[in-house]
Amino acid sequence: MKSIQTAKRLSNVIPEPLPLSLVVAARAQVASGIVEFELRPAGGGALPAFEPGSHLTVETPSGARRKYSIVNPPGDRGRYCIAVKREAGGRGGSRSMHDDLPSGATLMAAAPENAFALAAGARRHVFIAGGIGVTPILSMVRSLVAADAAGEATPPFKLYYLTRDAAVTAYREEIAALGERAVIHHDGGNPAEGLDLWPVLEKPVAGTHVYCCGPRPLMDAVRDMAGHWSSAAIHFESFGVGDLSLFEPDQAFEVLLSSSQVRIAVAPGQTILEALGTHGAQVRRSCEAGSCGSCRTTYLAGDVEHRDLVLAEDEKATQLMLCVSRARGGELVLDL
Ligand code: FES
Repeated sequence: MKSIQTAKRLSNVIPEPLPLSLVVAARAQVASGIVEFELRPAGGGALPAFEPGSHLTVETPSGARRKYSIVNPPGDRGRYCIAVKREAGGRGGSRSMHDDLPSGATLMAAAPENAFALAAGARRHVFIAGGIGVTPILSMVRSLVAADAAGEATPPFKLYYLTRDAAVTAYREEIAALGERAVIHHDGGNPAEGLDLWPVLEKPVAGTHVYCCGPRPLMDAVRDMAGHWSSAAIHFESFGVGDLSLFEPDQAFEVLLSSSQVRIAVAPGQTILEALGTHGAQVRRSCEAGSCGSCRTTYLAGDVEHRDLVLAEDEKATQLMLCVSRARGGELVLDL
C-alpha cells in the first residue's frame, strides 16, 4: 500500500503551523549540557493529555522542528517538561533552545504523540537508556513508581542507564534513589568500558518487554543482541539520526515520484519527508527518526544511504525510510 495519499495536490505550501502556544515557565540545568524546560500554556488552562513515553514536537527558535520527550508524570495537565541536550555538532535546533529560549519566551508546539508506549499486559519492563535517551524512559519509570506508590498492580522494572560520567547524567540522584531497580554505568567515554548487556538480553523471557533509547551505536548493539527476541517485545525510540559524523555529509538530490513523474528537490539538512511535505504530500509518519517503520517506502532506482534502525540488510535493496534515508547524490525514484 502506498504511504502517500496523492501526488495530484503537489504545490508549494507552507507546513501546517503548530497549534499550541507555550511559555517557558522555568529552565533548570539537570546535567552538564542538558537543560530542562517547564512549558505551560500561554493562555492558561489545561494542556492536551499525554502518556508515558510521549513526545512533543516544538518549533525551536532556529525555526527547525524537533521532538523532545515529556518527562513529567502524565497526570500533570498544566505543564510539559522536556529536557534538551545541547548538540554542538547537530543541526542547530538544540543550540537555539539553549541559547535563544529564556524563561518567559514562547514557542509553538503540536499536541503530544506517543510512538514509544509502555506495552499493555507486560509482566516486566527492562529499560536501556543511553545519555539523553533517558528522557522518554524517565517518564515511564516515574509513572510506574507513582502507580506502585498508589497501590496499583504494577509490573516490576529494571533500568540500565549508560552515560559517560556523573556530570552528564541527567536526573542522576532520582534514578540512583531507585536502588536495585536501576543500574547507572559510566564508560568514561571509552566504548570498551561499556556495560555488557548480553546477560540482560541473552534469554528472552515471556512477558518481558525491552525499551531502548539512546545513541545509534547503543541501539544498534541492542538490536543485534535482541535479534532472537520477538520483535513485539523490543521497543526503540530515536529522535534523530544522532551522531551525523557516522554518515556521509548531506548532499542535495532529487526524488522522482514514479506515478506522476513529479520531481522534487531535497536540500542538505532537509529530509525527503520534509521535501514532500512542502509540496502538500500527505505521508504516513510517526517517529520521523527512522525507528518506527511508518514511512517505509519502495524505491525503484538510486544510490541510497540508509540511516534508519528498522530495515534488514536484504530489505535495503528496495526499501527506504522517507524520514532519514538520503541519496548519495543524483536522483531517487520512489514508488509513489
Ligand atoms: S516516521 Fe518513523 S521511520 Fe520514518
